[in-house]
Amino acid sequence: KELVFSGVQPTGNLHLGNYLGAIRKFVALQEGNDCIYCVVDLHSLTAQLVHDDLPGQIRSIAAAFIASGIDPKKHIVFNQSAVPQHAELAWIFNCVARIGWMNRMTQFKDKAGKDRENASLGLLAYPSLMAADILVYRGTHVPVGDDQKQHLELARDIAMKFNLDYQEHIRRAGRGIDITVGDEPVHAYFPMVEPLIEGPAPRVMSLRDGTKKMSKSDPSDLSRINLLDDEEAISKKIRKAKTDPDGLPSEVEGLKGRPEADNLVGIYAALADKTKTEVLAEFGGQQFSVFKPALVDLAVQVLSPITGEMRRLMDDTSHIDAILRNGGERARARAEATMKDVRDIIGFLY
Ligand code: TYM
Repeated sequence: KELVFSGVQPTGNLHLGNYLGAIRKFVALQEGNDCIYCVVDLHSLTAQLVHDDLPGQIRSIAAAFIASGIDPKKHIVFNQSAVPQHAELAWIFNCVARIGWMNRMTQFKDKAGKDRENASLGLLAYPSLMAADILVYRGTHVPVGDDQKQHLELARDIAMKFNLDYQEHIRRAGRGIDITVGDEPVHAYFPMVEPLIEGPAPRVMSLRDGTKKMSKSDPSDLSRINLLDDEEAISKKIRKAKTDPDGLPSEVEGLKGRPEADNLVGIYAALADKTKTEVLAEFGGQQFSVFKPALVDLAVQVLSPITGEMRRLMDDTSHIDAILRNGGERARARAEATMKDVRDIIGFLY
C-alpha cells in the first residue's frame, strides 16, 4: 500500500484546474492506497495574513473533497492546523533547507513580486512546510498539478539532506530503511516522494488566454470555471472561451502552437477520463461550434452533481466539522508516531 498525501489551500473559490489537476486524482487514488487529504490552512497565511471567513473557506474545501467522492471513513480528511506536528517538522526542515534553495522557487518569485524584502518569511518557507505535510506521514505519492512540481523536488532534496546528515543517528535509533539513491546505499528515515502529475490536464489554462494558468487570482471570472458555478455560468464561459478559427485536428501533434485548442481538448479528455488522442478521434475535423456544446454538456454532467452536493454539505456545518475533527484525530496519532522517531533521531529529550 502506498501512502498518498496531498493538500489544497483554503483561499478563494476552487476552480476546474484544482479539480482536474488535483481533486479528481485524489478520488481515483482511493482504490488500493492509503490516502490523506488536507486543507492546508497554515499555508493560507503566507500570502495574506487576515482572512474574513477562514472557517468557511476551510469547510468549503473539505466539502469539495467529500462532494467529489472522497470517502472520509476509509481515508483521512482534515485541516492542517489541527495537527501541530506539521509545524513542528516544518521548523526542523527550515533548518535542513538552505536559503538558496528557497530563493530559487519560481512560485516564491512570482508571489513575492518585485518587493521581495516585504514578502512574509512564511512565503519563503512555504515549500518546507509543504515537505513537512507529506513527510510527517512518510508519504510516498503526491497527486498535484504541474505548478507544484518544483516544490516536490525540493521536498526530495530536504528528505535526502535529512537522511544523509542524520544517517548515523537514524541507524542508532533503529528506525531507518535502506534505500538506494542513484547507486549509493543510504540508510534513510524519510522516503523519496513521487509526484503524480500525469494525465491530460496537469496544467489547466485560462479560458481567456491559453498561455496563462487558470488561477484563483485572475481578475476575470470568465477565465475560469469555479466549482460552485451553475449550468448557465459554465455554458457562458465555455461558449466565450478564446479559440482560433481552425477546426480540431485529428492528431495530438496538430494541437502544437494552438494553446487554447489544446487546453479545451485536455479539459474534455480529463472530464471524460479519456486521452487527448481518443477525444480527437471523436472530434477531429469538427469546428468549435460543435465541440464547445459537447464540452458544455460534459462539464455540466460532471460538475453539477458535485456543486449540488457541496452546497448541501455547506448548509449544515456540523457534518463537515465532524469529518474534520475525526480526520484530525487520526492524522495526529500518525504524525506523532513520526515525530517521536524524529525527536529521537535528532536527540531531543521529551
Ligand atoms: P493550491 O491550493 O494552489 O492548489 C491545489 C491543487 O490544484 C492544483 N492546481 C492546478 N492544476 C492544474 N491546473 C491548474 N490551473 C491548477 N491550479 C492549481 C495545484 O497544483 C494543487 O495540486 N502548495 C499547494 C498545497 C499544498 C500541498 C502540500 C500539495 C500544501 N502542502 C503537500 C501537496 C502536498 C498549493 O498551493 O495548492
